[in-house]
Amino acid sequence: MSINNIEVMPIDHIFKYIMGSKTKSVSTINGKEYLYFGGAGYFQLQSHPELIEAAAGALVKYGFACGTSRTITGTTNLLLELEESLAAYFGTEAAAYLPSGYLSNIAGFQALAQLDLFDIIFIDEGSHYCNIDGALLSGKTLLKFKHLDINDLKAKIEENSIKKMKPLIATDGLFPIWAELAPVDEYLKLAEIYNGAVWVDDSHSVGILGEQGRGIFEYYGLSSDRLFMGATLSKAFGAYGGFVTGNVSFIDQVHTGNVMTGSSSPPSSSVAAALKGLEIIRKHPELRKKLWGNAAYLKNKLGELGIQVENNYLPIVTFALGKKENMQELHASLMEKGIYIQHVNYVGAGANGVLRIVVSSEHTKEQMDYLVESLKGLI
Ligand SMILES: Cc1ncc(COP(=O)(O)O)c(C=O)c1O
Repeated sequence: MSINNIEVMPIDHIFKYIMGSKTKSVSTINGKEYLYFGGAGYFQLQSHPELIEAAAGALVKYGFACGTSRTITGTTNLLLELEESLAAYFGTEAAAYLPSGYLSNIAGFQALAQLDLFDIIFIDEGSHYCNIDGALLSGKTLLKFKHLDINDLKAKIEENSIKKMKPLIATDGLFPIWAELAPVDEYLKLAEIYNGAVWVDDSHSVGILGEQGRGIFEYYGLSSDRLFMGATLSKAFGAYGGFVTGNVSFIDQVHTGNVMTGSSSPPSSSVAAALKGLEIIRKHPELRKKLWGNAAYLKNKLGELGIQVENNYLPIVTFALGKKENMQELHASLMEKGIYIQHVNYVGAGANGVLRIVVSSEHTKEQMDYLVESLKGLI
């Protein structure tokens, strides 16, 4: 179809899979039940009864939202409690809640720029859309370095440090498609040498990485006032919205910056759900152990099938089969067997897309075995 000579895709080509139930191990897609191995609900808290109850309670008490921004009358006690809980959980001086993880990146970069903490950004070329957009919107010079390539980063910083510019090294913590971990420990060393800072979009590792689930900084045992982080609450925490953590001056900038000043305060139910998701993750470290166990179990089985998988406990398994058509075919065959995995075209996936399996703490051994059995003969 074309409108004014511009090719337009029909809506059912863009949104092919319509969810008709809660997103859980068994979900209704396009009117049919499937064993579901997609998304980023690593603990399936999105459909946890306590989270739903908390969201519903806030909806009844506060109504849907405040109809104004945070700095006017849009700040509730619930919002303040969430920000305090986020700071306590991540062990930082303060935290700010934002309407999405996407906006957290934009607000984070703008605040760092306002505080004059950097002059030039070096960003991993494979970083998430919002990380790149945030960097662009900071108004500072932006240079991309090769994906996960510390030597390329060093070379690029050295070329530019002659001008004595303070670098901000930006990256995702855990990359969403191939589940690679950024060498943030190495980035921090560089930031120390060049009097710069590090920005991490840690949306995929918060909740799942590190002994307490605090994400990539905890994973590497890092703590420094040169480290800044933004992330989403919509994945491991099962809620909605995003946040940034850091010292008081940084968070003050976010609280008074353009993003927060210029947007309505988020729905009360999202805030309550985030508080509950955070509480569940904090109180139940055994969920993380279950998740890591499930990931290791599934990866081991898939490895035995000959699928090249990273031998680790991260819950994302991604592989490619060359041509797009091969992957479409395998995807369709699995759907016929009642299984949904992703054939996804996301940042890092390349033009043909990749096949991506996401396992959660709630999948049973039988469900994982059924997936593996179904893949036999299709690879
Ligand atoms: C790496 C990464 N960062 C940020 C986001 C955006 O977070 P949100 O959905 O809360 O806007 C996503 C996707 O949702 C993501 O995959």
